[in-house]
Amino acid sequence: ELMGQHVKSQEKETRLANALGIQHCTIVIGNSDKDKSSLVDMARASTEVIDFLLPEGSSTIAVMGGTTMLEVAEVMTQQIGLHRELVFVPARGGLGESVDIQANVIADIMARKTSGKSRALYAPEHVRMETYSLLLEEPEIKETLEILENTTLVLYSIGDAFEMAQRRGLDEETLSQLIDKGAVAEAFGEFIDPNGDIVYKLSRIGLQSSKLPSIPHVIAVAGGKEKAEAIRAHMKTVPPHTWLVTDEAAANEILNG
Ligand code: BG6
Repeated sequence: ELMGQHVKSQEKETRLANALGIQHCTIVIGNSDKDKSSLVDMARASTEVIDFLLPEGSSTIAVMGGTTMLEVAEVMTQQIGLHRELVFVPARGGLGESVDIQANVIADIMARKTSGKSRALYAPEHVRMETYSLLLEEPEIKETLEILENTTLVLYSIGDAFEMAQRRGLDEETLSQLIDKGAVAEAFGEFIDPNGDIVYKLSRIGLQSSKLPSIPHVIAVAGGKEKAEAIRAHMKTVPPHTWLVTDEAAANEILNG
């Protein structure tokens, strides 16, 4: 029995999942753009989904950064770590993001809250090609990437393209290129248009969305009316076993918009 403040109607969750072409959605009440308690409910619902999906024994969980993920980390409990040996690993290098919402930090909080372990991935989100190949040869980075290859579960959020471009410090030229190409969403360092086609990509250290089909459990957590368009576009790129945790504001906008 899931315990968060879910919408009454499971029917809406099924309708949303069908509309997005995925198997499962969880919808919490409210609009997490405006309402902190809705964000907390979304985070709690995410931990319940993790608890429901993760097998006992050892698992590697790949996590992204961002404000939504930080909230999920903050509500994680010992329950998740019960009968499990968990290793939390940043899914991508994320240096460049503010320190408090970097994937490294989030992986570390999650590990502490669940009595698990974490590994850091000290790589910029954004590197030049030459640097990229050199970084890949670093034993420490190589090892983390090997661990990521065997991820049991990936946990991430979806961002609005323009907001994320600014947060990642992309230059004016790239920003206007993104606008020209109609980018609406960003996840995994990939900026996509409303059809789900990639229009711009940041460096590739770490997981890419093309890996998702081979990861047993995929959980995306994103809500708020403002993210509806980003969520709708991103869901065109994911495998059907992706589980979306969202809120009513985003769900209504996707279903009626
Ligand atoms: C991160 C993802 O988890 O969340 C990004 O790595 C995404 O790709 C971001 O854009 C969204 O951040 P926020 O702060 O809106 O949760």
